[in-house]
Amino acid sequence: MSELNKIALKILSNGKGILAADESNGTMTKRLEAVNVESTPKNRLAFRETLFSSESMKDCIGGVILYDETINQISSLGKSIPELISASGAVPGIKVDTGAKNLANSPEEKITEGLDGLRERLKKYYELGARFTKWRGVYSISNNYPSKLAIHSNAHALARYAALVQECGMVPIVEPEVLMDGDHSADECLEKTSEVIKNCFEELILNKTDLSGIILKPNMILAGSNSKNKISNEEVSDKTLECLKNSVPTEVPGIAFLSGGQSEIEATENLNLINMNNSTNFIMTYSYGRALQQSALKFWSKDTTKITETQHVFNHRARMCTLAAQGKWSSDLENK
Ligand code: 13P
Repeated sequence: MSELNKIALKILSNGKGILAADESNGTMTKRLEAVNVESTPKNRLAFRETLFSSESMKDCIGGVILYDETINQISSLGKSIPELISASGAVPGIKVDTGAKNLANSPEEKITEGLDGLRERLKKYYELGARFTKWRGVYSISNNYPSKLAIHSNAHALARYAALVQECGMVPIVEPEVLMDGDHSADECLEKTSEVIKNCFEELILNKTDLSGIILKPNMILAGSNSKNKISNEEVSDKTLECLKNSVPTEVPGIAFLSGGQSEIEATENLNLINMNNSTNFIMTYSYGRALQQSALKFWSKDTTKITETQHVFNHRARMCTLAAQGKWSSDLENK
């Protein structure tokens, strides 16, 4: 078993999942202002530290994805943020892409940047304690998109990123996110997501990455958010499993879904069904941002001194997701 495979399994095993707390300052400002909290470095740290010190970090969270600002911050008790996360048994991770920009010659589509100087930045993050990383490519669905150019360019960048991360002794999360925005059908999402993921693996293989030392972070297969033809949770689970079974090489140890705008309950229920029906050898767990933090953020914003109570809200969500990652969740547990 390679060292990278060991790290991946430490993050994903036993129902554990990933807390995606790597919102850029711009995104975090939107999230905080939506609940009337001023977005300052101190407030961003205060909310995140509240989550990272929660009880459920020990039994539910295998890894936390940080943003550059947070990995460099010191917690209120004097430990660095990576030290605080490691003390709970979770693995600190870091988002290393520098964001999605307009793609030349297809400006309605995006290409994720951040390869320049990446090797040097990775060394710095390793020294700060990171053992895994994230890079997100984004694709939208419409009649003409995603174009072959967007699919190819993003897969190429994701694979070059992944190779550099493994060279530095860390596990890359490869995140090709096919967005939920639009009125496309679930079958279109299935078709495009499969094409996108297959293309990523072609490039990952071309770049000689160790597939046993990566984590795939895909979207679930859903109808577009404006589609009139929504599908049932059972169908989401069936189509998502079909997509992954046909597109992901068996060497990959695990898949950690993004929530992508699903509600907390939707993201939990869908993950639970995926695990109840999972006939693959892949671990299927969560790497949620909004679907883990939404309720906790809303509660905290009303009174930021209520740390223990905010942690209860977060613990509940993390425990529900961890049950779902084992196919053991049911809706009646939500109210206990
Ligand atoms: P959401 O779960 O809110 O989609 O965030 C996950 C993530 O890391 C997106 O890059």
